[in-house]
Amino acid sequence: MGVSPMSSTGVGPVAKKKKLPETRARRPCHEMGSIMLSDEVKKEIDAEARHYPQRRAVVAEALKAVQARRGWVDDESLRDVADYLGLSFDEVDSIATFYNLIFRQPVGRHVILICDSVSCYLTGYEKLLDHLKKKLGIALGQTTADGRFTLLPNACLGLCEQAPAMMIDNETYGHLTAARIDEILGKHE
Ligand code: FES
Repeated sequence: MGVSPMSSTGVGPVAKKKKLPETRARRPCHEMGSIMLSDEVKKEIDAEARHYPQRRAVVAEALKAVQARRGWVDDESLRDVADYLGLSFDEVDSIATFYNLIFRQPVGRHVILICDSVSCYLTGYEKLLDHLKKKLGIALGQTTADGRFTLLPNACLGLCEQAPAMMIDNETYGHLTAARIDEILGKHE
């Protein structure tokens, strides 16, 4: 299963995502049999919305709430979020594209984001990436056959003083070596 590698600028996938036809995007959710937002997700969105006067400001958190339950954000869920916030599909989609931690394609149980920015690049990014690719048997943007890991590049993780660095799920890891990577991967089933 492949996921488009993110750009090293951190502004989203390199590959352009497929847009839904206009007619479909305008139809109400119930006609499309979409998975409506759960009450739990709506509650989280409402709580976030209380802090911001503009609905657009809530989009990233709303998408994260969906992703926390589904693992990624499909078009139907994205449309549900757009409808709930009174925004267009394209508005929400452009925000989803901006945040590279919002996954618009299926990912593995654990997402490895390996930093390819300057400090990490200069301290061994390429060697570590090769190690990860060999160890997992996948290329950047792909998911292991057992669905355990997805490997993606990422811009600076804010851990430059501990470069080279990577993030798995929400946890960051610095001072990476091949042996340390093996140890970290072993803790993620
Ligand atoms: S350059 Fe890699 S964490 Fe900053």
